[in-house]
Amino acid sequence: MRVLDTEFVKGFVKMANDGFMQGWHERNGGNLSYRIKPEEVESIRNRFNCNDEWVPIGTSVPALGGEFFLVTGSGKYFRNIIVDPEACIAIIELDEIGENYKIRWGLVDGGRPTSELESHLMNHEVKKKVTKGEHRVIYHAHTTNVIALTFVLPLSDEVFTRELWEMATECPVVFPDGVGVVPWMVPGGRDIAVETSRLMEKYDVAIWAHHGMFCSGIDFDLTFGLMHTVEKSAEILVKTLSMSSTKRQTILPQNFRDLEKDFKVHLPERFLYDK
Ligand code: 13P
Ligand code: ZN
Repeated sequence: MRVLDTEFVKGFVKMANDGFMQGWHERNGGNLSYRIKPEEVESIRNRFNCNDEWVPIGTSVPALGGEFFLVTGSGKYFRNIIVDPEACIAIIELDEIGENYKIRWGLVDGGRPTSELESHLMNHEVKKKVTKGEHRVIYHAHTTNVIALTFVLPLSDEVFTRELWEMATECPVVFPDGVGVVPWMVPGGRDIAVETSRLMEKYDVAIWAHHGMFCSGIDFDLTFGLMHTVEKSAEILVKTLSMSSTKRQTILPQNFRDLEKDFKVHLPERFLYDK
């Protein structure tokens, strides 16, 4: 089977293009990774290169040893992925100890995986553990409205979660665990990856102040849908704050508690504080 004909590559390319169409991927902004299923690896193993070198990941992800990932390339533009996927994305294999990777397909004009590979892989490692292998997608996007909010709201998990939940009734149902916030840090390395993956222990969404967002999910639809829901909520908040610094009415803590039974979600009380 050709790599480009597999459902997971088609889903990955579509998701990248959907993100570009939303305006979340200026220039080379953002990156995407997918932890490939063993049967998907076997269906294309005969298409892999075998001569690439092992390269240090820059961190250690032992629980992912031997796994394969589809990732975007560093410096590649999301708008070009649909036009020339083989030049913009790659399949990498991790060694058995989870400290080195090798490119097995893609990036045909040269290049390396995203500069946020440490964050992607450390997030995958945490999510593989806490979801018992269910989550396979990690997505980083430069979502305009969420970034704007990091200049005006306190950088606390509680405030961001509560404000985003209030902006649309479906929000607490889509991300009942809330969102985490990482203060401004240098991107593209192990330190920010460690902070982000710590948040991924309890949340599926991590906001990077003045930079963007990371989302984790089971598949492409759920992960894109999560990013889209959070960013839409942030857009409503930006519009609301632009009209008035105070809300005349909103969804109240007791309203959130009333949602829990019908929608079968648990909403932690720490987000339902009195204002
Ligand atoms: P890459 O092009 O290396 O993926 O970097 C883009 C980005 O958004 C960094 O945070
Ligand atoms: Zn970024």
